[in-house]
Amino acid sequence: MTTSTFHRAIQTVEHLRLTLPAQLAKPRVAIVCGSGLGGLAETVDGKVREEWAYGDVPGFPVSTGYNMDTVAFATRVCKLLGVETMLLTNAAGGLNPDYSVGDIVCLNDHLNLAGLVGFHPLRGPNEQDFGVRFPPLSDAYDISLRQLAHRSWQGLRQQQPSERRMHEGVYAFVAGPSYETRAECRMLRQIGADVVGMSTVPEIIVARHSGMRVLAFSLVTNSTVQTPVVRADDPELQSLSQAELDEYMSRGRANHEEVLEAGRLAAVDMQGLVLRIVAEL
Ligand code: 6GU
Repeated sequence: MTTSTFHRAIQTVEHLRLTLPAQLAKPRVAIVCGSGLGGLAETVDGKVREEWAYGDVPGFPVSTGYNMDTVAFATRVCKLLGVETMLLTNAAGGLNPDYSVGDIVCLNDHLNLAGLVGFHPLRGPNEQDFGVRFPPLSDAYDISLRQLAHRSWQGLRQQQPSERRMHEGVYAFVAGPSYETRAECRMLRQIGADVVGMSTVPEIIVARHSGMRVLAFSLVTNSTVQTPVVRADDPELQSLSQAELDEYMSRGRANHEEVLEAGRLAAVDMQGLVLRIVAEL
């Protein structure tokens, strides 16, 4: 006998409800913290905080190289717990030349590049208990939640001014785990993406499939605009030493440390933003 995802998720929810304090028995909002943004969890009052490692939650698939099953399952557990709104944050590379490192992008659409070639969270038999076979995604990024995000950001800015800006833009979802080549960055910009990253879109699709509302933010942790075409026959580069060439080629190179550092620097603003938004939901 096969147990459907729906029944496995119900069993997980029943287990979680046994361990949750009464106030948390039916959460209305779920928050997903991206790379370097885990500090968001610290803003939750310790008296009503419960923590579980993935391995300790019954029914959670063991994370594989492709983490899509876990992502879909955790999102569906949120749905069955009663969550109505998913608020997601991630770290992303900036493709739009108007963006600075440290800016926040409220997502208004995505390019599911990994999904278009088969890396899609809804592949396989449809889970009819959660939603329809062919869900629309043209309204995935809830317009009124985005309006609330902009209002909340303005309110926060008045309270604590800073250089950081909020934009609205399109997120390109790639499978990773390598960062993009220079040519891939140019392509992503040309096809309409403002930021690029390796997360969030699977959760958003699964959340929309089951009718939850979605609000998502990218923190721009590095800029791909700093990585133009470099040609080995460029006369300007002929006289450079190996060390100078190495330095030249390292400009704009993405690395995970810098991504985490941008997250740490933005943590207070991200927390302030999320708290203001949640207070209005
Ligand atoms: Cl530049 N690319 C991808 N795929 N993910 C990222 C990133 C870049 N920066 C942060 N996350």
